[in-house]
Amino acid sequence: MTVLPFDERDGTLWYDGAFVPWREAKLHVLSHGLHYGGGVFEGERVYGGAVFKLTEHNERLHTSARELGFAIPFPVSELDDATRELVRRQNITDGYVRPVAWRGSEQMSVSGAGARVHVAIATWEWPRVFSGPARDEGISLGTSRWRRPAPDTAPVRAKAASLYNICTLAREEAEAAGHDDALLLDHRGLLAEATGANLFLVIDGALHTPVADTFLNGITRQTVIGLARDLDITVHERALTPDALADADEVFLTGTAYEVQPVRAVDGHPYGVGKVTRSLAEAYARLVRHPDGRG
Ligand SMILES: Cc1ncc(COP(=O)(O)O)c(C=O)c1O
Repeated sequence: MTVLPFDERDGTLWYDGAFVPWREAKLHVLSHGLHYGGGVFEGERVYGGAVFKLTEHNERLHTSARELGFAIPFPVSELDDATRELVRRQNITDGYVRPVAWRGSEQMSVSGAGARVHVAIATWEWPRVFSGPARDEGISLGTSRWRRPAPDTAPVRAKAASLYNICTLAREEAEAAGHDDALLLDHRGLLAEATGANLFLVIDGALHTPVADTFLNGITRQTVIGLARDLDITVHERALTPDALADADEVFLTGTAYEVQPVRAVDGHPYGVGKVTRSLAEAYARLVRHPDGRG
């Protein structure tokens, strides 16, 4: 499938407070965000024309920026309004939203203190990460040699562009080895997450998920933990060593883009798509379309 390059599309973006033609949304090559990684972003989903957990995402954008030492110059409410209006102008029913904030080109220095902070928001139709049978029958993961860093080594709680180096390396290696995605351990060798989603194991009917202390505590992760409790499924957030994978009956990933994504194998060890994964995937699919509890 040929994908139209992202800079060659028609439409509108929101850029530093104004709606601009999509193709004109440019930045200078000497931006801090490009050279020194001074950038944070979000990934949001549109369901039936409404962004799921929009405010939580924009709050996290602000928190991520603060973790990197800069402030987003637009309040959360303005980002929320801009997103809703953009989704309307772009006529998106089911799609994706990508807000991004970065330090600009006012100075060329490791310190980004004097660089202006820019913010842009884009939205496009983008229904699923994994299509075909993998979506329902599960994806294949390979454990990566790359690890999530310690919290005193990198701003692990921020959705920081610079941290995605690790994910890109891991994902490309996993794909080259014939997997769909990579499973990352953390700096201690504990199970952590995939390259864009959090990890859950089902052991004897209960959910087990790593403590989010070296990676993003995903909004979907928190939502799914809440749904599990509503369904009387016991949830254990705990340190998980890789040998826990041998005890698991089901494995799945959660993320805004991945939603509840079953895993069919980790390093060749097979898993079924069982009752717990199915019930949570269904509950999540209902919730995103009826977040106020209707339907
Ligand atoms: C590395 C990583 N971990 C976890 C997640 C899941 O986070 P959320 O559920 O907030 O999308 C994401 C996606 O944003 C991610 O990129």
